[in-house]
Amino acid sequence: MKVLGIETSCDECSSAVVEDGEKILSNVIATQIPFHAPWNGVVPEIASRKHTEWIYAVTKEALDKAGLTVADIDAVSVTSRPGLFGSLLVGLSFAKAFAWARNIPFIAVDHMLAHLYAPRLAAENRPEYPFLGLLVSGGHTIICKASNFDDITVLGTTIDDAAGEAFDKVAKYYNFGYPGGKVIDEMARNGDSGAFRFPLPSLHKGDHRFDVSYSGLKTAVINQRDMFRVKKGEVTNEDIAASFQKTAVEIILRALLNAAEDTGLTTIVAGGGVAANSYLRSSLAQRKHLCCIFPPLDLCGDNAAMIAGIGYQYLARGERSPLNVTASARVTGFKKKYP
Ligand code: KG4
Ligand code: ZN
Repeated sequence: MKVLGIETSCDECSSAVVEDGEKILSNVIATQIPFHAPWNGVVPEIASRKHTEWIYAVTKEALDKAGLTVADIDAVSVTSRPGLFGSLLVGLSFAKAFAWARNIPFIAVDHMLAHLYAPRLAAENRPEYPFLGLLVSGGHTIICKASNFDDITVLGTTIDDAAGEAFDKVAKYYNFGYPGGKVIDEMARNGDSGAFRFPLPSLHKGDHRFDVSYSGLKTAVINQRDMFRVKKGEVTNEDIAASFQKTAVEIILRALLNAAEDTGLTTIVAGGGVAANSYLRSSLAQRKHLCCIFPPLDLCGDNAAMIAGIGYQYLARGERSPLNVTASARVTGFKKKYP
């Protein structure tokens, strides 16, 4: 079954064709980064307008690259939650119209579950359930037990900012560039991660054992930098980036390793934009008692292949979404339950 995937939840306008939930025939990702960069962050109004302008051409390109026509598509899968409401509506409306015009099955899927599905699109090292999931994106940080593609139990989450949000906000404050995560990752390679010893949140006990927090780190890096300075002499922006990144990753690792210890799960599957972080990847690779599976870099960030992939799994079970399904900007009440 060839599924057309549509993803417009944030600032990537993406369309893909995936066969039988695993084989990527095309995955076109048109990034809006240059349009948001002057503001050092995503401007929702610009994002939805660009999606409206681009979605047709991006989908045409996805079909062309797969060597297919509209008639070859068997079903449509689209992100309907969570994300920027106006942006979600563009993809959702386009996907509905495509499915309705062709009278083919249509499914609306969850963006975060799709991130966790992304490693299954890689040619090798496909994860088997159950595993420990690490979802780290610009809007969410979730540590969960995944029993199936649509069955996850949230063990921990952020009590304030998401991991990617912390990278973005630090980069914005220091004018490092946009998007912050990738820029900080690159700068950190030439910095001294021991230049500052930033504090870790005290979340390792009781109910918060698997939770993370970034507001304290963010305040330390932005407002109280010199209180945590260890290095004598000149410090560079690269030193700030490296010290921040080290602490940001340690915060994730501490909660994640607690979860691995308590659940006994030894396979960890990561997803979301921050899963591209080189320090996170190398730190986890050193934990030889764990099997850590990361999506290939081009499937870490937002992409429609993961949407088509997970959509196939629902469709193969005979599930369909009604054409009056609507978008949802956030997922509420998911503290220990998601979606
Ligand atoms: O999954 P994603 O593309 O979009 C959302 O669903 O939010 O994640 C975007 C986030 C941004 O906060 C971005 O700064 C972060 O992922 N990011 C990174 C890296 N590449 C992207 N964070 C740390 N290191 C990276 N290499
Ligand atoms: Zn995402």
